[in-house]
Amino acid sequence: MAQPIRHFLQFGDLAREELAWVFERTRIIKERFKRYEFYQPLRDRTLAMVFEKASTRTRVSFEAGMYQMGGSVIHITTGDSQLGRAEPIEDTARVISRMVDIVMIRTFEQSKLERFAQYSRVPVINGLTNEYHPCQILADIFTYLEQCGPISGRIVAWIGDANNMAYTWIQAAHLLDFRVNVSTPPGYPLDPRLAPAGPHLKVCADPIEAATNADLVTTDVWTSMGFEAENEARRRAFADWQVNDEMMRVAQPNALFMHCLPAHRGEEVTASVMDGPQSVVWDEAENRLHAQKALMEYLLLGRAVE
Ligand code: CP
Ligand code: NVA
Repeated sequence: MAQPIRHFLQFGDLAREELAWVFERTRIIKERFKRYEFYQPLRDRTLAMVFEKASTRTRVSFEAGMYQMGGSVIHITTGDSQLGRAEPIEDTARVISRMVDIVMIRTFEQSKLERFAQYSRVPVINGLTNEYHPCQILADIFTYLEQCGPISGRIVAWIGDANNMAYTWIQAAHLLDFRVNVSTPPGYPLDPRLAPAGPHLKVCADPIEAATNADLVTTDVWTSMGFEAENEARRRAFADWQVNDEMMRVAQPNALFMHCLPAHRGEEVTASVMDGPQSVVWDEAENRLHAQKALMEYLLLGRAVE
């Protein structure tokens, strides 16, 4: 009997033991890549990437990753496809998924991604929606494991916006048994539908309280893609939600700093932190490549790997 198609639309779409597998495969795939070993299990497979928002890291990591694994890639955007001329997402899914083996989509509402997946014959990966950014958190948690060991029982401080990154960290904490201390400015609270209360989540009014004793301090832009009209109001509201040296001082002495990038030095993070010794932002970015190769391998081949 045919196996059901596996998608990665949110972090929780993979069970804890599947995540452990993907992290271990990420380690092995990264090691082989560093040794310049050929590893092409996805020969003859094609990835379609659909971008309705801008990207540097997501595009380059998926595209390079698929080529490195022996496959090929098709890149489309709203502007250069019929998506921009209102072809329904359901029809687009039916068509694209008859021609390729796997699809990555970056779009606005999570519901749009889910509608695509519902009509797709092949696995669909979330390359960022307004609600979630699960590929980034795969890379971030892999980076933590690589540098510090197990994340269970640790404290992650989230400073800033209640956005796709925050909600994905919260989902991951629930699944992998760590805690996220979240501090957002007044007027920008977490949406309880995306961040249910529980022991893995502590909401702090004061960002310094959130960062205190944290093992990892992380933030993101004050204004995410799609919300640019709020830029000025956000600049004022978020001024005290900046990761700076004072905030890093109250965290654990060996705490890491992460940012999914792109970053705005002088806004959500100071240059001293972003370019300082605790920052692992470039490793995070690189690990997008390795983690997504392991993810595509898992979604397409399961555990039948060399
Ligand atoms: N972090 C991330 O997803 O970056 P891009 O927007 O450049 O893809
Ligand atoms: N929260 C940001 C992440 C960019 C990678 C955004 O959605 O624009």
